[in-house]
Amino acid sequence: MTKLKAAITGVGGYVPDYVLTNDELATMVDTNDEWITTRTGIKERRILKGENAGVSVMGIQAVKNMLAKTKTDPKEIDALIFATVTPDMTFPATANLVATEVGATNAFSYDVSAACSGFLFALNAGANHIESGRYKKVIVVGGDKMSAIVDYTDRTTCIIFGDGAGCVMLEPTHEEVGIIDTILRSDGSGVNYLHMKAGGSKIPASHDSVDKRQHFVYQEGSAVFKFAVTNMADVSAQIMEKNNLSSEDVAFLLPHQANKRIIDATASRMGLSDDKVLMNIERYGNTTAGTIPLLLWDFEKKFKKGDNLIFAAFGGGFTWGAVYVKWAYNAS
Ligand code: UT7
Repeated sequence: MTKLKAAITGVGGYVPDYVLTNDELATMVDTNDEWITTRTGIKERRILKGENAGVSVMGIQAVKNMLAKTKTDPKEIDALIFATVTPDMTFPATANLVATEVGATNAFSYDVSAACSGFLFALNAGANHIESGRYKKVIVVGGDKMSAIVDYTDRTTCIIFGDGAGCVMLEPTHEEVGIIDTILRSDGSGVNYLHMKAGGSKIPASHDSVDKRQHFVYQEGSAVFKFAVTNMADVSAQIMEKNNLSSEDVAFLLPHQANKRIIDATASRMGLSDDKVLMNIERYGNTTAGTIPLLLWDFEKKFKKGDNLIFAAFGGGFTWGAVYVKWAYNAS
């Protein structure tokens, strides 16, 4: 019998109905479908419409989808962790709102803020709860309503982001499956290149902060691009090396969906052929903490028990990391 590990035993997801195409964006800012497609790989993204509809709306739908698929009684859930940079409110945690709404009344819940790497950071926390032996069912959600903080007059930034949420269930196992290894990194000096200036305790919301458009994502795209290419590729190669995995051993790479050119560079560094690199960036764009669980949701049927999957991400903070997962089930 091997040591207790956390296995992913179910996935769920939700994307809103409204499709914002490149052509519609071209009516809002000076851009065009050809530029966006060749520079990013994105064709369209989903937008959550509706008054007072926060990211919890998508998290609740994703979790309900997973609870129904896995036939799980929400009262059995021990913990729910929500990775997001667009919480419904600064406090309380969006995780609390989701847990209560789905009926997970016995769970403790909290948010994790690690931007585009948020799902990997939350997954690591969830896996640690399971590996401690104290908890039997932990839900990890990743999702963002980026349309709430994107400046639709800034053409270099608004074209990449979209809205969506996905989630996984973690349960204990003694089998040779589950979350095998994790490498997580952060570097606060990245704040200069990717941040939201106002709305926190440093610059609280004011007339002035609104006038200066400080409640939107500020991104120096090409600088972030360079850090992302290097760090996401490095950490992915590192986790393969650490676990003696060759490119043949890896069944699929599930990379954060920020820009197809960053994904291609990571895959090439890992020596992976295109068929092993999962992408839905063309349909959803960059949903920040939502990208990796939405890949799991979209491609669940491709995975077989025992498959070696690598999750990799890079984002604001800076934060980055890679997770090596041995898939635990065959989806029916
Ligand atoms: O999610 C985690 C963190 N974020 C990322 O990983 C994002 C990383 N960065 C990127 O993906 C890319 O930097 C962007 C997609 C954001 C921008 O692409 P880029 O190739 O780095 O463009 P750029 O900012 O270097 O701009 C190149 C040119 C400029 O024109 P000039 O100065 O060369 O004449 C821009 O003005 O492209 C122009 N441009 C555009 N043209 C048409 C910038 N945005 C657009 C646009 N449409 N939307």
